[in-house]
Amino acid sequence: MTSRDSSDKRNLTVVGLQWGDEGKGKIVDYLAGDYDAVARFNGGSNAGHTVVIGKARYTFHLVPSGALKRKRLLIGPGVALDPGILAEELELLGAHRIRTNLMIDGRCTLVSPMEKRLDEFFEGLRGPLSLGTTKRGIGPSYAMRALRLTPRAGDLFTGFDARPVTKYYESFGLKSGEFKAWLRRSTEVLDGMLGDVGSEVDRISERGGSVLFEGSQGALLDILHGSYPYVTSTQTVAGFVPASLGVKASRMGKVLGVVKCYTTRVGEGPFPSEVKGVLGRKMREAGREYGATTGRPRRVGWLDLVALKYAIRINGAEEVALTKVDVPAGLKHFKVCVAYSLDGSEITDFQRAQGHLDEVVPVYEEPGNLFGSSFGDGVPAQVKRLVRYLERSLRVKVGIISYGEERSRTVGQ
Ligand code: IMP
Ligand code: MG
Repeated sequence: MTSRDSSDKRNLTVVGLQWGDEGKGKIVDYLAGDYDAVARFNGGSNAGHTVVIGKARYTFHLVPSGALKRKRLLIGPGVALDPGILAEELELLGAHRIRTNLMIDGRCTLVSPMEKRLDEFFEGLRGPLSLGTTKRGIGPSYAMRALRLTPRAGDLFTGFDARPVTKYYESFGLKSGEFKAWLRRSTEVLDGMLGDVGSEVDRISERGGSVLFEGSQGALLDILHGSYPYVTSTQTVAGFVPASLGVKASRMGKVLGVVKCYTTRVGEGPFPSEVKGVLGRKMREAGREYGATTGRPRRVGWLDLVALKYAIRINGAEEVALTKVDVPAGLKHFKVCVAYSLDGSEITDFQRAQGHLDEVVPVYEEPGNLFGSSFGDGVPAQVKRLVRYLERSLRVKVGIISYGEERSRTVGQ
């Protein structure tokens, strides 16, 4: 076996296994110390990855969550990059005296103010069938890329012909002058930061270094495999790592799925184990479940093993990090959805239920509640029982438990 292969084995891909907001930022921050670089491979500033250190709270939308561990940071070509948001984030880190060593791939899709307008426009067009997007322009920017109209990051420096794209914007009544000003400003922001991220990953690996690949959103928001049309506009599954970065498949290393011990969803779309009313509000407040990007209240519900088994399968997740187990400690009940009931029959295959997710009735088990459990003297017995239950049901190891937002409240198992 070559040294290259053995360094790939140390690599790690961290992905969300629900509808996003599983706590990936916190887990990536916890693990980043063991890696030489942290690379984003999908999504854009629709993501909100929060890391809390003492009283300081950092929310990253574009910069990889390894920033606080001063790691080599990489943004791969599969990311939709909003240069304005990137500039704000880098400024904020600078204000905290955190120096970043960031490379952005020249093939990144760019997000301009025009795509944000189009996001609003298309959401308005859908009316009552709107998706509840983050309105960050992410979907329209990938669409513009698919139409091959929009410049990529590197194209700003090679004399991109903007006539077709400005004609397109004008057809929507948008003024192209603003776009041209944005092109100039973005060129200033990105100057000196662009490179070939795939080659950089290979270079790091060939020198025996390791890379952590940080996913955004979650499996059920994947544009191909999620609850379409209520999904985001990229792939979110681990298999997207090599394709989007342009590296061989073995580079993705082991796959770690992040799972919150209940479920949340922000935006529209089916949610079989959703809990509404007083209990739902209580869970939302206990978990501070408000969107890190939009501030919207997140919908909350019980853990859904049907959806999780599917997410584990399509990601090939070998291990799970279980987050926010402190939240159910305030609840007298703790339910887990083990099947869906549809027209008198039980479904345990999420893919079979797709298309009927609004009609299915969740079948629950109560694997013991977590009421009053506290981590003062290590992992409490109730949590250990839940972990064993999940390991049995999901057939994966729960390798990490996180029980609060502060950086220190994460333990390896
Ligand atoms: P978009 O990605 O802004 O187009 O939004 C499409 C759907 O994905 C909406 O339901 C969003 O709320 C959801 N979404 C996008 N990014 C995130 C995220 O980082 N966490 C949770 N939900 C997200
Ligand atoms: Mg988030």
